[in-house]
Amino acid sequence: MKIIKVKDYDEMSTTACELMVDRIKTIKNPVLGLATGSTPIGLYEQLIETYKQDHVSFKNVTTFNLDEYIGLAKDNPNSYHFFMSEKLFNHIDISPEKTYVPNGVASDLKQEAVDYERLIQKENGIDLQVLGLGTNGHIAFNEPGTKFSSRTDIVDLAQATLDANARFFDSIDEVPTQAVTMGIESIMEGREIVLLVSGEGKAEALKSTINGEVTEDFPASILQTHQNVTIIADEAALSLI
Ligand code: F6R
Repeated sequence: MKIIKVKDYDEMSTTACELMVDRIKTIKNPVLGLATGSTPIGLYEQLIETYKQDHVSFKNVTTFNLDEYIGLAKDNPNSYHFFMSEKLFNHIDISPEKTYVPNGVASDLKQEAVDYERLIQKENGIDLQVLGLGTNGHIAFNEPGTKFSSRTDIVDLAQATLDANARFFDSIDEVPTQAVTMGIESIMEGREIVLLVSGEGKAEALKSTINGEVTEDFPASILQTHQNVTIIADEAALSLI
């Protein structure tokens, strides 16, 4: 694992943006894996800036998001699809048909998960996968206890995740309890992974990710076994290392 220590959230976002823009420029038809949540918002803002200022084009880019809540359609402001449109897709020149997010209201959700995997494979896999880190060690919505061999599927969210994500909803009762998520094995197939971590609240989780036992009880620990992982983390997140 390569660890890049940065000062704060803004520097994490700028550094991640530079890395991503480099891959967009050097890979012919880049396929990016994207995350939602608070962590990558600054990265997406920086990407929009780069598009506007430096005319970096996203026309050849394809994206796959990690996950989506079950029961929320893409026009629901709490859906991850809506989040991605608002925070990134609507502001750059990417083709909407190249931005894939699992459909959380598909009539056959199991089939949706299978089809999502096929789509990723059809695009030749993911060149660069962006990840955030759950305080409980989840990556995407793969909660503690998930098999390392998991593929894209329907999952139940852990109570810690419901609690953490309640901040985006009017009340905790509105937080969907299930999601479609890329599996751990699916994520590990990404040719390069960049894990973004910011803030003291993630310090314990980051310590287990880097130095802890590789165990299904702490999903992010699997990243220790990937050949091409870069962690971009700020001083607060790295304070226990
Ligand atoms: C989001 C995702 C999650 C988040 C994680 C951290 O697509 O897959 O694993 O990356 O929950 O969330 P934040 O960034 O809000 O702390």
